[in-house]
Amino acid sequence: MKKKSRRPIVAGNWKMNLLPSQVRPFGEELMALAAGFHRQEAVVCVPFVMLPAALKVFEGSDISVGAQNVSENPRGAFTGEVCADQLRDLGVKYVIIGHSERRTLFDEDDIRINTKVRLALDAGLHVIICVGETAEQRNMDVTFEVIMLQVKSALYGLDGDALKRVVFAYEPVWAIGTGVTATSDQAEEVCSFIRGVVRAKFGARVANGLRILYGGSVTPENADDFFLMPDIDGALIGGASLDPHKFFSILEESENNED
Ligand code: 13P
Repeated sequence: MKKKSRRPIVAGNWKMNLLPSQVRPFGEELMALAAGFHRQEAVVCVPFVMLPAALKVFEGSDISVGAQNVSENPRGAFTGEVCADQLRDLGVKYVIIGHSERRTLFDEDDIRINTKVRLALDAGLHVIICVGETAEQRNMDVTFEVIMLQVKSALYGLDGDALKRVVFAYEPVWAIGTGVTATSDQAEEVCSFIRGVVRAKFGARVANGLRILYGGSVTPENADDFFLMPDIDGALIGGASLDPHKFFSILEESENNED
């Protein structure tokens, strides 16, 4: 399958930024800019408390809404948590799972991430699974071992059919929020490796259909370098996704780069 048969995705991860009252103006501005852009998929992943506002403003548009986390428990006495069924019932399409900030600041290991992926997929959500090595791991030359472990354990217990609702995001930890991006060659090397791991486990058809994003200091200025790469199908954007103009510029770039 050629790259062009995979629909590009540009996903914004707002992290813990902006306010509920800012969702509507952001959404209206983004929709005005993005009217007519259907080829790519745009996803805006907002904090839990902003999901209803985001769903409302993007209702009927091509822009999907995502959460940034989900409980590893299906339901019950887990004060402060939000489960996959609740996200799905609200109308949320995507959830980011295994972001490096969750892994490092909230002790999420590969087993918990796999549990979340399975619950989210069972609930009917689409998942964006983040993987990436730290600077120390890259320097120790264990990047591919780390990525292999993260990818294989995230997908443990799934069948090929479930992979239709899985997107991977390669986000090297050292490139997140630092202004230092991976080079496009470094990013392509790892994204192609991820596709290879999926191919070995699920076969060529599933691997060729899998969408893999790059994330880490992506801006309108550098996005193009990544979108030109054969195994990179879009981007997961932090800081630049908080500005509708920057987010839209990156979305526009993703259209221009199909082989
Ligand atoms: P930045 O784009 O701010 O580096 O963040 C990347 C990221 O973590 C997206 O999930």
